[in-house]
Amino acid sequence: MNKYSSIICGDNVSVLKGFPDNFIDLVVTSPPYDNLRSYKGYVFDFENVAKELFRIIKTGGIVVWVVGDATTKGSETGTSFKQALYFMSLGLNLHDTMIYEKSGMAFPDSNRYHNVFEYMFIFSKGKPSTTNIIKDRPNKWVGKSGGNHRGGLCERGEYGARFNIWRYPNGRDNTSKDRMAFEHPAPFPESLARDHIISWSNENDLVLDPFCGSGTTLKMAKLLKRDFIGIDCSEEYCRLSRRRVDEAENIRPVRKQGQSVAHPDNEQLSLLP
Ligand SMILES: C[S@@+](CC[C@H](N)C(=O)[O-])C[C@H]1O[C@@H](n2cnc3c(N)ncnc32)[C@H](O)[C@@H]1O
Repeated sequence: MNKYSSIICGDNVSVLKGFPDNFIDLVVTSPPYDNLRSYKGYVFDFENVAKELFRIIKTGGIVVWVVGDATTKGSETGTSFKQALYFMSLGLNLHDTMIYEKSGMAFPDSNRYHNVFEYMFIFSKGKPSTTNIIKDRPNKWVGKSGGNHRGGLCERGEYGARFNIWRYPNGRDNTSKDRMAFEHPAPFPESLARDHIISWSNENDLVLDPFCGSGTTLKMAKLLKRDFIGIDCSEEYCRLSRRRVDEAENIRPVRKQGQSVAHPDNEQLSLLP
């Protein structure tokens, strides 16, 4: 039984102001990217969201901020970097700059190489409390004497720690098997949310998505036995998140052991009924 399994409809800054200090273990979220998509005219107040997230996460807590930049008047906006620097100015550590590599591109542009990635900034409030590093990269040194000593790491097992570029097939059928997820214009892959929740939290921890959209983070938190709170300003998306979470009741997440994220055809995990 979850202690928290709430989906709150409202402007996230106003909602977050009602949360106590040092309350949340992990935030996994993706804000609207520049003005790439209009969410029914809503805007968000980045600086106040960032301040509230800093206040409400526990010491040792993590914020996973998945973001990309629009290109306007011939230049990428750099919003993602500005946001990362702002989080750091509040006192969060930039624990890691990870990359979400997609299998396909959304906005092809004949003047540039196709953009197939977004940033996944991992911020921590002090030293992270939980780092369950996923080890599913086949270790080419297995069975060889000495193992891999690079950087002081000695990985002798069959599988080593993942690299920090995570590749997920995107688009329909890959992002989610749920048809209803695509009632939202921009769900991120379930496996992306799942892998961050596994990495940075433990069972019964409290996970927040303050831009919950179709409820991807909340669904995966529930399946992984975490408590969760989602916030979205759209009533339609709050209802969608609730349906998605409720229908996740009978699914259990299964890891296909030992597959590398680096391989283009690798889906890594499937959700089995
Ligand atoms: C990029 S989408 C998130 C998608 C989500 N990761 C998923 O997998 O479905 C951003 C969401 O933020 C919501 N949003 C925008 N401004 C907001 C605000 N001020 N307060 C709360 N939600 C907001 C939008 O309605 C939209 O659903």
